[in-house]
Parts: sequence; C-alpha cells; structure tokens
Amino acid sequence: MVLSWLAANPRSAPKHGYGAAQRAVIDPDRVPDVGALLGDKDGDKHGPTPLYSLPALARRLGVGEVRVKDESQRFGFGAFKALGGVFAVHEYVTANKAQLPAGLVFTTASSGNHGRAVALGAQSVGAACTIFLPKFTSAEKEAAIRARGAAVIRVDGDYEAAVAQCRLQAEEKGWIIVSDTSWEGYEQTPRDVMRGYTQLADEIVRQWKAGPTHVFVQAGVGGLAAAVIGYLWAKMAHRPVFVVVEPASADCWFQSNRAGKPALASGNAETAMGGLACREISPLTWPVLGLGADWFMTIEEDQVMPARRLFAHPLDDDAPIASGPSGCAGLAGLTRVCTEEAAFKALHLDGRSRVLLINSEGNLGEATV
Ligand SMILES: Cc1ncc(COP(=O)(O)O)c(C=O)c1O
Repeated sequence: MVLSWLAANPRSAPKHGYGAAQRAVIDPDRVPDVGALLGDKDGDKHGPTPLYSLPALARRLGVGEVRVKDESQRFGFGAFKALGGVFAVHEYVTANKAQLPAGLVFTTASSGNHGRAVALGAQSVGAACTIFLPKFTSAEKEAAIRARGAAVIRVDGDYEAAVAQCRLQAEEKGWIIVSDTSWEGYEQTPRDVMRGYTQLADEIVRQWKAGPTHVFVQAGVGGLAAAVIGYLWAKMAHRPVFVVVEPASADCWFQSNRAGKPALASGNAETAMGGLACREISPLTWPVLGLGADWFMTIEEDQVMPARRLFAHPLDDDAPIASGPSGCAGLAGLTRVCTEEAAFKALHLDGRSRVLLINSEGNLGEATV
C-alpha cells in the first residue's frame, strides 16, 4: 500500500513480549496516584477522567466502538500533562530531600501545557518556577502559566530553541530542569514525567474490561504515546494495533520510523497543534515507539477544526467533548483512516474494532468551534 501519510513500522514485533528495554522506559507496575500529591481539598476533582463511548460516531466511521479518554477533565487543569509535570517535580523533591537548596527553582521549555503542569507542581511544593515558551505559544497559555505563580521567558524561536535556552540558563543559574523530552545524559526526569502519564493508561484498563483493538495516539516528542502504548502492550492479553498520529509539518516520528533511528521532522513544525509542534523525538522513548508502534501517520492542518467540531457537536446522542487542537488529533487521524479504504483495510479495521482515542487537552479558550 502506498500512501504518503501512512507507514507501517517494519521493526514492530507484536508477538514479542514487553521486554527489559521497554520496561526500562515505561514500568507498567509503578503507576503513581498523582491526584493524591495535590491533596484532597478539591474533593472528587482528582479522580479518574471519564472514558466516553461514542456509538453514533463508531457507526458513522464503520467501526464497532469508539471510546475517548477525556483528559480535558484532568484535575480541573484541562490536559493530561498535569500527570507528568506534577509527578516529576514531586519525585525530584522526594529523591533530593536531604540537599534541596533554599531558593529552589524548577524550569522547563514547553509549548504550553507541560509548562503549566511544572508550574502547578512547583507551586504545590512551595518552589519557584520559570518556564521557557517558544514564539507560537498562545497568550492564553502564557497567562495560565503565570496564574500558577511561574515566571515566563519568551524565546524568539520554536520549541527546540526554547529547550536550548532553558538548558543554557538552567546551567548558569543552577535551576532544576523538569523536561518532558530527553537528551543524552538527561533521562531520569523525562522517565518520571512518563510515569505520571501511565496513570491515565491504568485508568483506561480499569474502565474498559474488553479494552481496545486499535489505539490512535498523538505524538509530539513521544512521551504520551510511549506511556499509553507501553502500558497497554505490557498489560493487555491481546496487544492492540498502535497508531501514532502527528501533524504533517512536525512528523519527527514518521521520519524516524522511515530512517529506522531518531530523525528530524521534514517540516518546520508550524502547526495549530502546539502540543505536537516538535521537530525531534525524545530519544528515551525509542524502545517503546520505535520498536513497538505498528503504524505512523500524519494529518493535515485542515483536518483539525472538523475533528474539534465533531467532538464538540457530536452525532445523535453521543457525549459532547471539549478539545483543543492537539487534543483532537487522534480523532483527526482515525477519521482520515476511515475515509480512505486502503488505509482502513491495512489497519484491519472493521465493524468489530474497538478504537481508543485520547482527548489530551480541552479547549483552553483558543478558538470557538
Ligand atoms: C495536548 C497535548 N497533546 C499531546 C501532546 C504530546 O505529548 P508528547 O510531547 O509527550 O508526545 C502534548 C505535548 O505537549 C500536548 O500538550
């Protein structure tokens, strides 16, 4: 099958068990309770997010079931990212209890959501925080980070430029980086961030007895996809088909799959899907995604708004879901596959398929849909 936007992973070996190389990245047996770290003053707010079933959408797409894990309702925070940033800050504090400096400052580069999560984590342990944002991050996201008590430094460049600035200044000032992406010699904290994300995958397994046959998960650097794929691969008796979805201009995983090793995106990562606007993968995640995802696909910018609208104004009695541009990317991917017969067949989708999507962020006031 030749489609420019869909590629099988020649290294994926579904029959192989979840091995030591994968377990070193995502440990499915150490799922944290991140809500508990934030205290219970907000009551039920820290419980599991809903897993909605959308039967009318499933009928329209020709599959048996579509379920959506709705992270727009995570902790009243509005995105799955809260799980990673908050957990990684707490892990750092616990591991370094004996030698925490008086003026502890946490920092990270972020396209918006991760920065807000680290700001929330820092606030919850009484530490200061400075977030580096690329040029494209919306004013709403910047305001939300400042509202968590963090300082913001705008970088005149993209996400990778923000990462470079953050590393430079952290080194100079002795700030602690809580990054969701990894680099050589910097892996423990990104691993903790992903450990936080495993909580959502664990909730899915508890909420859905039969579990999915197909998973469409969006990727920026790959942390979310690694946590979801790793956890489900390790825990489910029948491994689902895993499909990684990216914007066409930020296709670093699509290109890495083609190259057989970490590779740069083919485009400049200019996309409405800010959370996915990455030109480089997190190398730490390679053993799970590079060796474990079954398919990689891209979506176009003009597929984002229709997917957001479909979530917000659903068919028949399906539940309405508020999503942001990165949140609906899995749905945009599923819709693309289901409207292209060759792709639908290649993924072995049919009327019995049970599809999992993750609405990774809510509508943070960016645009009405
Ligand atoms: C809403 C949203 N979805 C998905 C992602 C992708 O996560 P990752 O970079 O771990 O692949 C992000 C990352 O910032 C995000 O903010």
